Amino acid sequence: MPNKVESNKNYPTITKSDEYYKVALELIPAQTQTLAKGTGQNIKGVAPKYLQRGNKVVPNAESIRYSRGGADVVSGAVRVARAYTGRNKVLCCGYHGWHDWYIAVTDRNKGIPQAIQDLTFTFSYNDIQSVIDSIDEDTACVVLEPYVFEEPKDNFLQKLRDVCTKNGTLLVFDEMWSGFRIALGGAQEYFGVNADLACFSKAVANGMPISILTGRKDVMSLLEQEVFFFNTFGGEALSLAAAKATINEMIEKNVPAQLAKQGNKLKIGYNKIAEELGMNYTKCSGFDCRTIVTFDSSAGNPLEMKSLVQQEMIKRGILWGGFHNMSFSHSDSDIEYTLKAYREVLPILKKAVEENNVIGYLRGEPVEPVFRKVSNFNMKPKKK
Ligand SMILES: Cc1ncc(COP(=O)(O)O)c(C=O)c1O
Repeated sequence: MPNKVESNKNYPTITKSDEYYKVALELIPAQTQTLAKGTGQNIKGVAPKYLQRGNKVVPNAESIRYSRGGADVVSGAVRVARAYTGRNKVLCCGYHGWHDWYIAVTDRNKGIPQAIQDLTFTFSYNDIQSVIDSIDEDTACVVLEPYVFEEPKDNFLQKLRDVCTKNGTLLVFDEMWSGFRIALGGAQEYFGVNADLACFSKAVANGMPISILTGRKDVMSLLEQEVFFFNTFGGEALSLAAAKATINEMIEKNVPAQLAKQGNKLKIGYNKIAEELGMNYTKCSGFDCRTIVTFDSSAGNPLEMKSLVQQEMIKRGILWGGFHNMSFSHSDSDIEYTLKAYREVLPILKKAVEENNVIGYLRGEPVEPVFRKVSNFNMKPKKK
């Protein structure tokens, strides 16, 4: 339907827009996601500024900016952290998207200048010493997925917080997976540790393309002028509306509790079947909302074992990737059906392992390893 265009007798009153603008002045550095559509492009007092109320479930979200992809906001966080600290180096742990500063540390880093590669290093999850060994006076930020599958041990996240604070380095949580899943406020809420900046996407809009950078106002305020972080579709309204609707639904239905409940059934169920079959070389682990099935190399090639389980699960109608990424729509019957399939598939794996011939059961090439390493690669040489 075309827009309804009418000639007004008077200029419009924009009171509501100005109310939103006041909120945005507090929450959104530069008050826009696309510079060309920013408030500076509108006649003050006449043109509405098209602003929306901010988003309250995330701890420490004193300030907010939106974008489209996950890598956008993590790179935004790194850039603003560099600007705030006046430092260059980044320590990271986990996966953070396709941009140069991160891909530099992986084995797919062709096309990234050496000067960029020299600025990012990794550290090992749950190994605070690996951070202490690498952090220095030029470290702008420590970026990590607050957990992937392994639980933080020995107060790791709080220790990381303390090491960063002591060194004047910003702590950035990449909450693409943990945000709105382990708790509405993500890992910051669940573990009670505040990052300086936090990045969200994925679950927040139920699959619509939006990503969100939140954090300390004094850091984020650099996005007003000094640090450039704008893109054409940054304020695309459909995804913002989807995020708003999704968050309301999550609050109303306490979605994280439901994900944990259903995920726990799968985790416990899988481990029970494996135990009953005496297959101590496979287990399901991780926080309930997102668990992983692993295979121990003592029993054979883990990728071949994973491939066989995938092949047999697909035969039973389940497109299986090796982890249970829970969604609110996973019903009791979905869980029961999946466990029934495991009850049929795991004995096949057991037989293949006992015959030392998993590869012989495969009808295609085994799955390939991913490059998502979280430890022991591109570590910074120890300080002398
Ligand atoms: C933890 C994490 N950070 C960043 C990203 C990058 O997000 P995108 O692919 O939307 O740029 C991903 C994507 O899978 C992710 O899992």
